[in-house]
Amino acid sequence: MIRGQGGFIGADLSSYAQTHSPQEIREAILNPNKNSSRQDVVIAVTRDGRKYVGVARNEDNFSLQLQTLDGAFHLLMKSHLATLRHEPRSLMPSDYGSKLTKNDLDDLIKFLVKSSQEQP
Ligand code: HEM
Repeated sequence: MIRGQGGFIGADLSSYAQTHSPQEIREAILNPNKNSSRQDVVIAVTRDGRKYVGVARNEDNFSLQLQTLDGAFHLLMKSHLATLRHEPRSLMPSDYGSKLTKNDLDDLIKFLVKSSQEQP
């Protein structure tokens, strides 16, 4: 999300470039699995067959608050789950290095730097 536009699942990037160099931003986009604040992908399937893929915003022995890609929160009781899996990878796509051209990536980084310089 930037300045209120975008999705809720990732970090708010409005002022990200104030604290990260262009090289660090490039790394974050190209190698999301190396992000030190990376969260596991969590996949929960309920006993009645509903499947949720997202990140755990809160979890204890009995329950799980899962946020899915659309930004929605789901409060799931573990006793209602058939399976629960934590995958040690980022929910962020790891293929931007092959999907974006060098120019696309430079543009994206410039955009993030410029957004961070604008007044709130
Ligand atoms: C080209 C578009 C994108 C850009 C520029 C971008 C940029 C970033 C950056 C810079 C971070 C690091 C934030 C930090 O260090 O705290 C980040 C983290 C993250 N991004 Fe993206 N992102 C993009 C697309 C996506 C998409 C499509 C998704 C979801 C499918 C996503 C999900 C995440 C998540 C969940 C994190 C948190 C770290 C983690 O748990 O791995 N991002 N993103």
